[in-house]
Amino acid sequence: MLAPISCNGYSIYFNEDGYEQLNHYIQQRNPSRIFILTDENTNEHCIPAFMGKMPADFNAEIIEIEAGEIHKTIATCNEVWQVLSELGADRKSLLINLGGGVVTDLGGFVASTFMRGIDFVNVPTSLLAMVDASVGGKTGVDLGPLKNQVGVINVPGILIVDTSMLTTLPFDEMRSGLAEMLKHGLIQDENYWAAFRDLSALDISDLDKLIRDSIIIKNNIVVQDPREAGLRKSLNFGHTLGHAIESYFLQAPEKMTLLHGEAIAIGMILETWLSVQTQQFPEEKLEDITRVILSYFPKVVIEQKDIAPILSYLKYDKKNTHGHINFLLLKDIGTPVIDARADDDLLVQSFAYYNEQSQKA
Ligand SMILES: NC(=O)c1ccc[n+]([C@@H]2O[C@H](COP(=O)([O-])OP(=O)(O)OC[C@H]3O[C@@H](n4cnc5c(N)ncnc54)[C@H](O)[C@@H]3O)[C@@H](O)[C@H]2O)c1
Ligand SMILES: [Zn+2]
Repeated sequence: MLAPISCNGYSIYFNEDGYEQLNHYIQQRNPSRIFILTDENTNEHCIPAFMGKMPADFNAEIIEIEAGEIHKTIATCNEVWQVLSELGADRKSLLINLGGGVVTDLGGFVASTFMRGIDFVNVPTSLLAMVDASVGGKTGVDLGPLKNQVGVINVPGILIVDTSMLTTLPFDEMRSGLAEMLKHGLIQDENYWAAFRDLSALDISDLDKLIRDSIIIKNNIVVQDPREAGLRKSLNFGHTLGHAIESYFLQAPEKMTLLHGEAIAIGMILETWLSVQTQQFPEEKLEDITRVILSYFPKVVIEQKDIAPILSYLKYDKKNTHGHINFLLLKDIGTPVIDARADDDLLVQSFAYYNEQSQKA
């Protein structure tokens, strides 16, 4: 059995133990009604497994939203608030968020605001939501192109991770979550990073343990710095340039669409290269990181003409202060440097390094 993880104000339980604890939680809170928030995919693929593991007398109303980031909006919240009201939800109702990061972010926000706050439980079903989105208490929605612009920090009553949910997750989505796990190793723990050098040697119980270890790394950071005054910024490794690439590819119709993790994978190579140039990060480790990341992720061609427009997205980065772009770089694996700076010409050169390596690989 994977041991539970205790967080600020709630605990995370795994697999069978998770369902047992969820039942205790429900008995203890004795909610007047239970609602389960899903999207169209998790309603189809995850509800049957979830219901199958709950007791026969478990009774809940399912609410489905459309899948995808474009639906992580106030308009969708409005619909869910409305449905909750129509179905007679009251202050003692419980909302179970069963889905990827879109459902846990939006559902956490809906529950935190409905009647000034009702209980909610997270049951993340994507790898990214298990190791990242549903841990740490950030909830919220996008405002047009501005990601996560509106929200609150609030934690679930309990969080359960059932890794068997991942059997129906598409491969690309699985890999997107892997990027965040690699990030957790690079910012905090060289041994953890080393486990990813060769995933072919792993079996399913190893994966369970890697997921749990990833959550521990994220949770330790969040517990020390819940409001992102310092250390929590290290979770942005790979994300400054990664987000800019993600946004640029999203709006360029001729470009392939990149999942979040695929863009972050490129961002981590670029930002490790910047770390070599500005923080004395060891060069041989850059080569190792580049090789490992390129062995898992698509090799994207970033043309010369793409670089300036990509860099222009950096001005929207949430970490900017006083007109400066703040990077999260590394002195070594496990040693993050917060609020680091890098000149524009270095940024341009980092893309040349990525292109050269990805064409070689
Ligand atoms: N709150 C935070 O701290 C935090 C951290 C990181 C990311 N996020 C947010 O998380 C979101 C991304 O999460 P995501 O990658 O899970 O996206 P997602 O919720 O859109 O899920 C990805 C896709 O997988 C499908 N899916 C999920 N579980 C499935 C399963 N078991 N079987 C089959 N299909 C399944 C979903 O329907 C969706 O189509 C973003 O909105 C991001 O802003 C939040
Ligand atoms: Zn991310």
